[in-house]
Amino acid sequence: MYGHQSAALLPASVPQFFTRARGALLWDADGAEYIDYLCAYGPSLLGYAFGPVEEAAARQQASGDAMTGPSPVMVELAEALVSMVSHADWAMFCKNGSDATSMAVMVARAATGRSKILCAENTYHGAAAWSTPRLAGTLPEDRAHIVYYRHHDPDSLRGALQRHAGDVAGVMATSFRHETFRDQEPAPAEFAWAARRLCDEYGALLILDDVRAGFRLARDSSWEVLGVRPDLSAWGKCIANGHAISALLGSDTARAGAASIFVTGSFWFAATAMAAGLETLRHIRETDYLEQIALRGARLRQGLDEIAARRGFCLAQTGPPQMPQILFENDPDFRIGYGFTDACIRRGLYLHPFHNMFLSAAHDDGIIDRSLEAADAAMADLATRCTDLEPHPGALARLGLGR
Ligand SMILES: Cc1ncc(COP(=O)(O)O)c(C=O)c1O
Repeated sequence: MYGHQSAALLPASVPQFFTRARGALLWDADGAEYIDYLCAYGPSLLGYAFGPVEEAAARQQASGDAMTGPSPVMVELAEALVSMVSHADWAMFCKNGSDATSMAVMVARAATGRSKILCAENTYHGAAAWSTPRLAGTLPEDRAHIVYYRHHDPDSLRGALQRHAGDVAGVMATSFRHETFRDQEPAPAEFAWAARRLCDEYGALLILDDVRAGFRLARDSSWEVLGVRPDLSAWGKCIANGHAISALLGSDTARAGAASIFVTGSFWFAATAMAAGLETLRHIRETDYLEQIALRGARLRQGLDEIAARRGFCLAQTGPPQMPQILFENDPDFRIGYGFTDACIRRGLYLHPFHNMFLSAAHDDGIIDRSLEAADAAMADLATRCTDLEPHPGALARLGLGR
């Protein structure tokens, strides 16, 4: 098993294969049920198999999916996204987040006639040769024009722009700092403002990678609340509530560049996911899903803090409550976090020891109550086993602590 959905880096109790998912629940291949806080690593926003979206998808599927050209639903979906995302004047569709970020890189280069793309160190933008976190199978040439700056550091960004003045096509940023194995950090408004100003000063396009956080922080692009509009934004994961589609949105500044590149895929224009996207966007606009997810995330966070305090642990809970990162203080090799995840999995609660998690609108109060009950029992168990815990070899290797 490859990529981020491999269970190899997780406690041995974490299942690898699943057969069913409904609402906030997931069943593994042995039939065990879990309350799932990964939401397929983001795509489930309204809950797995959400009725209205599935019905819209089924209707479209019955009349045509992958056809010789797109359905008019593609235009409706583009219009819906452009009407919701303030910076966007046009949309292009593809299948995965990696497609959308790679297309952003191409559009930025085509629009500016320049080479360099500036990315924050250690930030995940997908698994293409220019972005994949592991270098095996890639060439130095694949990222010869990728330049790294320090996260949320305007001086580092300015330095990179100065060093490559006249050759920077785009600056990539993420909604917030959401790396694995560390606390999450909101993007400081000062950084977002500086990034916008510097891109304008140096003639580079500002690209916001909203693949992970899109529509979980705002009904617009994530930096809109900071008053910053990118030139390009990459979307994926939840925009069709689990159906396979991603998007690149752009402003008129980048329109000619976007129109000039050649990009396509056999399944990029399939209509079922587009119909699912259209219905998902309707729910995003017309319901309070976002406020509900944030409230439930805050309840979970507070409940976990209370349980931890009672059981003698101290949690580091960071990130927006609707995309929580749950780590333990004083746990440098993550053995406590792994022990907790293991104890939770055994009680039907699917948490992650080092990756940010996701809530969906199906995580209602009853699900949060059940989650807190399971977490309490898991922490009681953990308290009795604390001195016997061993670090996970895979985690040690990732942390550079291998023996
Ligand atoms: C910020 C970010 N960008 C890009 C991607 C790549 O998306 P995908 O896995 O759909 O290719 C991800 C996936 O996790 C992501 O979190």
